[in-house]
Amino acid sequence: ARVHNYTWDITYQYKSQDCYKKLAITINGMTPGPVISATEGDTIIVNVINKLFMENFAIHWHSIKQIGTPWMDGADGVSQCATIPGDTFTYQFVVNKAGTYMYHSHYGVQKKSGLYGLIKVTVRTGKSEPFKYDDDDHSIVLTDWYHSSSYEEATKLTSLPFVWIGSPQSLLINGRGKYDCSNLNTNVCDSTNPECVPYSLTVVPGKTYRLRIASLTSLSSLSFQIEGHNLTVVEADGQYVEPFVTKNLAYLERHRIKNQPKSGHQSSPALHPEPSKHFRQSDYASQHTKHHPGPNQVVSQQCLSHSSTHSLSDSPEKNWTDVFDQTPAPESYDFQNYDIYNVPGNKNSTSSTSIYRLKFNSTVDVILQNANTMNVNNSETHPWHLHGHDFWVLGYGDGKFNMSSDVKKYNLVDPIMKSTVPLHPYGWTALRFQADNPGIWLFHCHIEAHFLMGMLVLFESGSEMVREPPQQNIGCGRTKSLIKP
Ligand code: C2O
Ligand code: CU
Repeated sequence: ARVHNYTWDITYQYKSQDCYKKLAITINGMTPGPVISATEGDTIIVNVINKLFMENFAIHWHSIKQIGTPWMDGADGVSQCATIPGDTFTYQFVVNKAGTYMYHSHYGVQKKSGLYGLIKVTVRTGKSEPFKYDDDDHSIVLTDWYHSSSYEEATKLTSLPFVWIGSPQSLLINGRGKYDCSNLNTNVCDSTNPECVPYSLTVVPGKTYRLRIASLTSLSSLSFQIEGHNLTVVEADGQYVEPFVTKNLAYLERHRIKNQPKSGHQSSPALHPEPSKHFRQSDYASQHTKHHPGPNQVVSQQCLSHSSTHSLSDSPEKNWTDVFDQTPAPESYDFQNYDIYNVPGNKNSTSSTSIYRLKFNSTVDVILQNANTMNVNNSETHPWHLHGHDFWVLGYGDGKFNMSSDVKKYNLVDPIMKSTVPLHPYGWTALRFQADNPGIWLFHCHIEAHFLMGMLVLFESGSEMVREPPQQNIGCGRTKSLIKP
C-alpha cells in the first residue's frame, strides 16, 4: 500500500465558471479541487492550509468509512473543530475499498462556494472488477452554482424567519457552465471567457468508457444522460451493483425498490436478524429539531475518548457529557396523529444537542417519513446520507409508513447498499445498518441549506473504543478545556 501526500491551499479566487465572475473557494486555485487518486488500502494524507482570512473550513471525505479514525471525518462540530484562518489541518486516513467517492466542505455553505472534488479508488493490481471497459476512466463532477455570496446565503438561511435562497443560476459539469450574459456588462459576465468553455470529452466510436459521476450539488437533484447512448450502471456509493442499462440516471430512483439492482454485498448475516432498534424520524421532526452543532455545543469522539476511564457510563464527570445532552433523543414522534399532508401546526424550531446512542454492533432500522413543508401542498425530496457506514435500502413507499403492513414488504433478499438515499415527497424510506464503526456519526439531509437549518441527527456507537484524537481536532467551544498544556 502506498501513501499519498497532498498539500492544499484553500483560498478565495474570482472564477467565471459559468461566464459570470464571482468569488469561489478553491483548492490550489481550482474548483472542483484535484481528483484524489489511490488504490484500495492506500493512505491519504492531506495537509490543508486555511488561507481564507475570514472563514473556517472542515473537509469531509464522503462515504469513506474512517474505521478507527472517526476524527478524520471532517464534520465540523462533530468530529473536529473547524480549522481557523492561518491554521493547517492534516487529514490522514485509509481508503480501504475501491470505488468512486467525493470530498466536500462540511462547514457553513462552502460546498456551494466550490470546495469539493472527487476521490477515485482503484482495485489492487491483480484483482479484477466485475465489468469491463476499454479506456481510462473519466471524472464527471456535477454541481449547481449560485451568484450570490455564501455569506448572504448563510445569513438568509439562519435568519428568523428564514429566507429561502431560491434556485441556482447555473448547473456546472466539471466546473463549467453557461449563464446568459446578454444583458450584463462584460466585466461581470463574458460569454467569450475561456474559463466557461463547456467540458468536452473526445471518444472513439465503439469503445466503452467508464465515467465516475459525482453530484456535489447543494440543492438540485439532477438527471444525467448522454444523448443517443445508453449507460450501464456498475457501481453506486462505492458498491458494485448488478450491472443494468438505463438511458437516464435520474430514472433509477423511480424504479424504487422492485428494480433496485443487487448489491454485491447483500449476504451479510446482519441483514437478517431482527433489528435491535427502530427509529422513525419525520421530516417535520428533523427539520424542527435544530440540532446543528455550533462550535460551543457539540464536539464528539475526541471528547468521548479523551477521558481516562474506558466505558461510556453517564457519569457527569466525563468530558463528553458536557457537550451532549444526555436526555435520550426521541425514538419516534406522534406517528399516529401526525398529519403528513398539511402544513405542520407547530412552526417553532427547537434546538438540542441530544444524540442517539446505539449499542455497538447492533442492527439498526431507520424509517424516514416525509411530510408537508411550511408551504401548502408541498413536500420535497431529501437525500439522506449516513457518515461512517453503508446501509441496506429495505424499501420505499408513498404516504405514511405502516408498521404492520409495510415492514412485510421489505426487500431482505437483495437490497442495494448505499450511503445516501432519497426520501421522496410524502413518502417513506426504510434503511438498515450495522452500528459497527466506533465513533459519532452524522446522519443528515445532503441538501446543504437543509443541513444548515438543522436537518440532521447524530448516532453514537462504541465511541469508548476510539483512540485519543489528535490535538488539532480540539480547540473550540467547550472542548477547549480538553487541550493538554
Ligand atoms: Cu457528503 Cu455529511 O456529507
Ligand atoms: Cu433536505
